[in-house]
Amino acid sequence: MKRVLSGIQPTGGVHLGNYFGAFRNWVSDQHDTDAFFCIVDLHALTVDHDPAQLARTTLEMATMFLAVGLDPSACTLFVQSHVLQHTALTWLLECTASFGELSRMTQFKDKGKGRESVSAGLFTYPVLMAADILAYDTDSVPVGHDQKQHLELARNIAIRFNGRYGDTFKVPQPDIPKVGARIMDLQDPTSKMSKSSKSEQGLIYLLDDPATIEKKIKRAVTDAEPEVRFDPESKPGVSNLLTLLAAATDKTPDDAAKGLVNYGSLKHSAAEAIIEMVRPIQERYRQLSADTSEVSRLLANGAQKASEIAEATVRRAGDAVGLLPKSF
Ligand code: TYM
Repeated sequence: MKRVLSGIQPTGGVHLGNYFGAFRNWVSDQHDTDAFFCIVDLHALTVDHDPAQLARTTLEMATMFLAVGLDPSACTLFVQSHVLQHTALTWLLECTASFGELSRMTQFKDKGKGRESVSAGLFTYPVLMAADILAYDTDSVPVGHDQKQHLELARNIAIRFNGRYGDTFKVPQPDIPKVGARIMDLQDPTSKMSKSSKSEQGLIYLLDDPATIEKKIKRAVTDAEPEVRFDPESKPGVSNLLTLLAAATDKTPDDAAKGLVNYGSLKHSAAEAIIEMVRPIQERYRQLSADTSEVSRLLANGAQKASEIAEATVRRAGDAVGLLPKSF
């Protein structure tokens, strides 16, 4: 069976970009693949974070995994820091990755911009991500478009390692959805919807209430020309709303545009479709939040299963580079 792995950082809530770019594919993948999904809490340490909040937001993210429909009997859910093999493998891969290729990562350049000091962890972030993926002999990685470059790096590291030390890692493929891979900011539709966005008005969270969703969509930036048409180059705001409507109703953006006579009706339809889509997720999230002990138990089981697989990979990679094998 094809092996799938993906991850999300536990900070800042889940927005529609995360949902359409990743979560939705995860939910459909879990039934016909051997799927692993992790909360990448170590990645969250690469920029300023609040130590008093991280454990709580990690548990909230796990609760959200279940609320969107991930089923622990169909896939493996775990927290990255619970599987120490990820960091052990990262070191072996860091010695294969080059300074030059890491310097070219656009997300590193973007996140580092304007900061007085940048952590070494932010620089090596994509190598930890490569370890997340390569530790599981992953075939396919369902992600949004913004992770494409990191995936390419993971592939290159795997190929280089295999070339140097013999066949050790499976070379993974990205799996990027046709609709929803690049959800844009509602206030600045030329930038992606992101937790680090300037304005909260630019993002819709899965836990936003209906009135907030409606307000954010109503205020979304469009353009001066009245026609509802999918054209991301010259009509980024309208095209983003069409993408949201299309993704929420399982259509193509061109089909979603049919019958919409003005921006008012586009916004109304998009808001309605999103509110309906998040309603059952929110209900389930509320129920699950009442008792998180079950969620913690699931994460412990997930980490156990993940560790066994990752441990075998770390040993294989250690053997390949010539470390003295552990006899214990
Ligand atoms: P993160 O936490 O930023 O985002 C989680 C997932 O959401 C997708 N995404 C989007 N998709 C469409 N439109 C958007 N505006 C949008 N914003 C975010 C991301 O592409 C991602 O799929 N480095 C990763 C986490 C990671 C990972 C991994 C992913 C760590 N290890 C191993 C896959 C495999 C990240 O920070 O995603």
